[in-house]
Amino acid sequence: MTTIIDGKLCAKKILDDLKQKTKKLQKKPALAVILANDDASSKVYVASKEKHSLDLGFDSCVYRFDKSITQGELIKLIHELNENPNINGILVQLPLFKHLNSQEIIELINPKKDVDGFHPINVGKLNCGLEPYAICCTPKGIIKLLKEYKINLTGKNAIVIGRSNIVGKPTATLLTNENATVTLAHSKTKNLKELTKNADIIISATGVAKLIKADMVKKGAVVIDVGINKQANGKLIGDVDFEKVKNIASYITPVPGGVGPMTIACLMENTYELFLAQNKGII
Ligand code: GUN
Repeated sequence: MTTIIDGKLCAKKILDDLKQKTKKLQKKPALAVILANDDASSKVYVASKEKHSLDLGFDSCVYRFDKSITQGELIKLIHELNENPNINGILVQLPLFKHLNSQEIIELINPKKDVDGFHPINVGKLNCGLEPYAICCTPKGIIKLLKEYKINLTGKNAIVIGRSNIVGKPTATLLTNENATVTLAHSKTKNLKELTKNADIIISATGVAKLIKADMVKKGAVVIDVGINKQANGKLIGDVDFEKVKNIASYITPVPGGVGPMTIACLMENTYELFLAQNKGII
């Protein structure tokens, strides 16, 4: 019997809990989001981040820029947000317009307000097994889903496919910290099928639709699909050939309704936790 992992339900539990906790606060947690690109998906994600913030009773500040924004203007805004005591979390939606240097911007965010966990200090803490100010939202959401379904990670062979700084690398680190034996595969990996066939846990974050086929999956494996691929008909599908793989996996996430809702729930949780850390002794 295969269990379809319900990311929507798990995310709702986190959001409901945050809403209740937020009601009891004297001040509101506040998230600032910067959107400086023309990408349609990014616009949808940012709108969703704003809506979720407001639904929870957080303050939300969204800064939307067109192509005329300069690196200098963005740097000035980051400095202002870092200094503003009423802002707890700063998120720069990636990618930025091509003429902007995203790494320079990320490194200017105060690590204590780095709600994405992308600052090298937070990445470094995660790699050292220390507690970052915030953990990247999608990887954090994946681990929460695995724990919610009581999937044991200790000593398990896990393969993460995709080596992005946003998903692949931090997911591999978190799994390692949870005592899994991790393979980090990517577009140059040879014999991917051989590696996935040996895995107890497969996490795919490539953006290649239906990359993971049924014959690549070991019977009873846990399959987590981070891909969001828009088809010509507008339908969203994952990296995994869901209909076929679901007959082989023991647990599998759907797209949509799997990892996606967890990312946003973890972003809200990170905002709340940064707010608490910044207001220690005040509230
Ligand atoms: N672009 C795609 N995913 C993310 C994310 O989790 N955070 C940010 N800031 N940008 C993204």
